Amino acid sequence: MNIEVILFGSFLTCICADGVADVVLSCTLVEEGMGGMGGDALFSRIPATLVLRDVPVAPDESLETLTPFVPPSVPDLDAILLEAKVSSPEIPNADLLLHADCNEQEVMCEMSRFSPHGSQESSDAAYFMVSLNVEGVDFGTALILQTLPVTTDQSTLIQNKLGLPLSQSGTLLTEVIFLVFSHIKSVSAHLRGDVLLDCGFKQQEMPLAQEVGVEWRLQHRGKGQKVFEMTTRPEDAEGSKVVHAERKGSSVDATLVVTEGNASVTLTKLKVVDEGTYICTVSVGLFHAQQIIQLRVVQPPIVSLSEEKLVLKTSSKLICHSVKYYPLDVQMEWLSLSPADSEPSMLPDQGSLFSHRQHGDGTYSLSSQLTVPTDVSPGTQIICRVSHLALDAPVSVSVEVESPQTESYLWFLGFLIVTVLFFIQVMR
Ligand SMILES: *[C@@H]1O[C@H](CO)[C@@H](O)[C@H](O)[C@H]1NC(C)=O
Repeated sequence: MNIEVILFGSFLTCICADGVADVVLSCTLVEEGMGGMGGDALFSRIPATLVLRDVPVAPDESLETLTPFVPPSVPDLDAILLEAKVSSPEIPNADLLLHADCNEQEVMCEMSRFSPHGSQESSDAAYFMVSLNVEGVDFGTALILQTLPVTTDQSTLIQNKLGLPLSQSGTLLTEVIFLVFSHIKSVSAHLRGDVLLDCGFKQQEMPLAQEVGVEWRLQHRGKGQKVFEMTTRPEDAEGSKVVHAERKGSSVDATLVVTEGNASVTLTKLKVVDEGTYICTVSVGLFHAQQIIQLRVVQPPIVSLSEEKLVLKTSSKLICHSVKYYPLDVQMEWLSLSPADSEPSMLPDQGSLFSHRQHGDGTYSLSSQLTVPTDVSPGTQIICRVSHLALDAPVSVSVEVESPQTESYLWFLGFLIVTVLFFIQVMR
């Protein structure tokens, strides 16, 4: 079987070879330049192509055989065409890039030049940081690519914009040397619950020989704060690691970091203020890369009615309470179900809402008051239905309308029992 993949924008075609495929992504090269006015940083965005070579494909994969990727026959020195070997380290879930085409999901690919920090012994190699995301899919990866040396037996081709030597077919040969990825893009968790924010990394030598830095930051409403920071060395997974858990109840397993490249953080006893955008940064040696994960805190409302019993009178009020939920948006509806009907119907009067109350823990409460219509027949259920993000399905609470006759009858019965009991007491 032969698979190769070509992707233009959100379009992808494939051809396969022995369980590996090439994925061709259209990317944007973002370059920072100094602007003329006031020295503002300007960004230029140049189209570029990234060919991921040898992406493993499941053996049972049946991809339509389409045009293979072939480098242009005449090298174009203006085109930015990067080729990357991704066999070691492998990109986790890279097959999602293949499937993105069939599902018509867009692949976002952005690259920029990367300078490894503190690299003095800098060889001739150049580096690129590539960030890959697939629309609507929990796939995110940031790759660091290192250029491979080009054998210069013939007159070397030089890329016009980048000034870097190209292969004879006009491609810039690179290999993945470090990557940071996440299996989730956003996660919802309950208040006071625990959550794992997923983040992992891979590099050429695993297990690691170098020191690893893991940092988790939280960005919320324009404010940034450090949540957790750790540096650890492979030889002392338990020993001289340095840990700063700025948020109480945050932890990263140092052993998993060193042995599996798993830098996921666990947050316990979630509060509303834990909500926001989390940034996982992993640094190994000269390289570092990030992933972004959204955390939403949700809490379903506790729903109750003010009355357990509703007797038809000239006007009776019924209040429905939705208590201690998060986030703010909640929908409260009033319905009625008469004994003759099988489906409840909306009441024309939808009651009136009291204003939201916010509790100390950041949750909200809301109540709605209904004036029960006097024309409802006895046996009718009055239903309060509440919908909220944290509920899989709306929650309904109801009360049955009783006729006043039943009420006076019950009063009479109660009175009778009390009287009988009284006489029994007196007779003894
Ligand atoms: C890290 O470990 C946790 C818990 O074992 C697991 O759920 C998660 O998928 C792992 N993540 C990565 C990136 O390996």
